[in-house]
Amino acid sequence: MIDFNANVRPEEMERIVNFDLANAFIDAQVEAIRAQVGDKKVLLALSGGVDSSVVAALLIKAIGKQLVCVHVNHGLMRKDESEGVVKMFRDELDANLIYVDATDRFLDLLAGVSDPEKKRKIIGKEFIEVFADEARKLEGVEFLGQGTIYPDILESIKQAEGKQAVKSHHNVGGLPEDLQFALVEPLKLLFKDEVRVVGEALGLPHAMVYRQPFPGPGLGVRCLGAITRDRLHALREADAILREEFDNCGLAEKVWQYFVVVPDIKSVGVKNESRYEGWPAIIRAVNTTDAMSATVEEIPYPVLHKIVARITAEVEGINRVLMDLTPKPVGTIEWE
Ligand code: XMP
Repeated sequence: MIDFNANVRPEEMERIVNFDLANAFIDAQVEAIRAQVGDKKVLLALSGGVDSSVVAALLIKAIGKQLVCVHVNHGLMRKDESEGVVKMFRDELDANLIYVDATDRFLDLLAGVSDPEKKRKIIGKEFIEVFADEARKLEGVEFLGQGTIYPDILESIKQAEGKQAVKSHHNVGGLPEDLQFALVEPLKLLFKDEVRVVGEALGLPHAMVYRQPFPGPGLGVRCLGAITRDRLHALREADAILREEFDNCGLAEKVWQYFVVVPDIKSVGVKNESRYEGWPAIIRAVNTTDAMSATVEEIPYPVLHKIVARITAEVEGINRVLMDLTPKPVGTIEWE
């Protein structure tokens, strides 16, 4: 018997590459989760990303409504993203899901803050506070579910050895003293590709388990500098058009990460024969295996022209579209 809850991946653990191996893993974890949790409740921050979605699906299979999912909409989600999480988990998987629209809390705190690391800290800290506020309203919760995966464990080991991270990432670690839960981390020995196979074996849609990564601070680090609601709105709309066009031409399946960035600069343009000052929308589309280095996807010009035409016609406040051709290094994937 392989111990899927060991702290280090056992050598005899086969790479989960097909549904048979995934189902064996799922059966073992369902049993382990039930044994660990008993009749208590498990709380989970469900962002809608691959890892938290797969943990949620696994926990729903194991303990049904004893899992309480909290989806915090920090107002920095992509277009229709929070609605999609609610639809999938509450309506289709019948999950016990609390949806919190905390847009105003986040945007009010972020007003006027332009330093990227300060923005990240504010978003990370407020995320924990909103989540903790919800947790305090609940009774009978003894466990916290987390979408920790094996690379996170390897990364913590590296950090413990004194190697510094370039950007601070956030998750729900660091909850206040009065909210200390035992952790349920059923994916902690899996690599990302294995998480996806397990997700599909659990019945999650292909598009959900193969979705591109999205940073915890969300559009907050793509609306460069001090975030304003109008520029954030323009970014969200332009990003939705980029994603729609990538879906239409098959690039969404191929490119590792693609998104729009909107800086706080205006240039002069012309619309309806009048001067039209607007922000540029910057397209970033990169491929990588480990996010440590990345190359730029060569998007065919006809696709680019269509995206330019749509964004400049449909998005209020955008009057130019630029393409970032910088590999990592020297540019990081995100602009902040
Ligand atoms: P960079 O910009 O460092 O990004 O080249 C590498 C990968 O990490 C993601 N990223 C983040 N993810 N919180 C996250 O959860 C963050 O603060 C954060 N910053 C960057 C980025 O989207 C890319 O996939």
